[in-house]
Amino acid sequence: MPKLPAPSRRRAAPPRQPAAAVPRAIGDAASVDTSRLLPLDDRLYAYLLDETVREPGLMARLRAETRRLPNASMQISPEQAQLMGLLVRLIDARRALEIGTFTGYSALAVALALPADGQLICCDVSEEWTEIGRRYWRKAGIADRIDLRLAPAADTLAKLIAAGQTGSFDFAFIDADKENYDLYYEQCLKLVRPGGLIAIDNALWHGAVADPACNDVDTAAIRALNRKIRDDARVDMVLVPIDDGLLLARPRG
Ligand SMILES: C[S@@+](CC[C@H](N)C(=O)[O-])C[C@H]1O[C@@H](n2cnc3c(N)ncnc32)[C@H](O)[C@@H]1O
Repeated sequence: MPKLPAPSRRRAAPPRQPAAAVPRAIGDAASVDTSRLLPLDDRLYAYLLDETVREPGLMARLRAETRRLPNASMQISPEQAQLMGLLVRLIDARRALEIGTFTGYSALAVALALPADGQLICCDVSEEWTEIGRRYWRKAGIADRIDLRLAPAADTLAKLIAAGQTGSFDFAFIDADKENYDLYYEQCLKLVRPGGLIAIDNALWHGAVADPACNDVDTAAIRALNRKIRDDARVDMVLVPIDDGLLLARPRG
């Protein structure tokens, strides 16, 4: 592991352009030169962590505390947290959404990248796990940027839409129950402004998406959403093979 130490401006959503077909020329792995692809073995991953990850000490401590929990693997990796912080800064995000907070590590990465008057609305159903996050958010001095809503995420997002918050968020991170990913994606498409960013975790689902023998509900949901977004003319998109796969979708104007 590495050794490292106000409401935003509201933007009215312009009308979306009618969906046009997404052009695709590439369709099969056989047509791609795979000789440049590197398997990320333990040695190379250790190098990546040691030489390129700038994880603040508090985030490292939260990660260490979370590792003692049986569900620790739900937490995103430090390099993914760093990428998300960079993306939040790149788009000058002020208002962000998180669907699935757990012990608050990804929320901490996003909140630290927001400006002092930024806001992150976190959706989760677990008082116990998020209480750990609250502790670290206070220690980091960014607790006032985070509005934790303990309720099913679909309800929280529906309330935001009903309250007229359409197009008022810059960034959303989806990382909760996989069965509802499609619903969260559609809700986030309403809430995130054109030119903002929706990041969807677990898009590679530990490889199961490419295994035809895996057809459980979660795998099927992620596989279907990946394909739907690939063909979705409402967004620009890319799947970044970092950690468990991070699918990025940028709503078009
Ligand atoms: C994969 S974890 C999130 C990990 C977190 N983003 C991180 O990197 O530390 C998924 C979280 O989604 C929450 N969750 C599951 N179903 C949910 C629902 N219907 N609404 C809101 N949160 C839910 C769980 O309580 C859990 O904390």
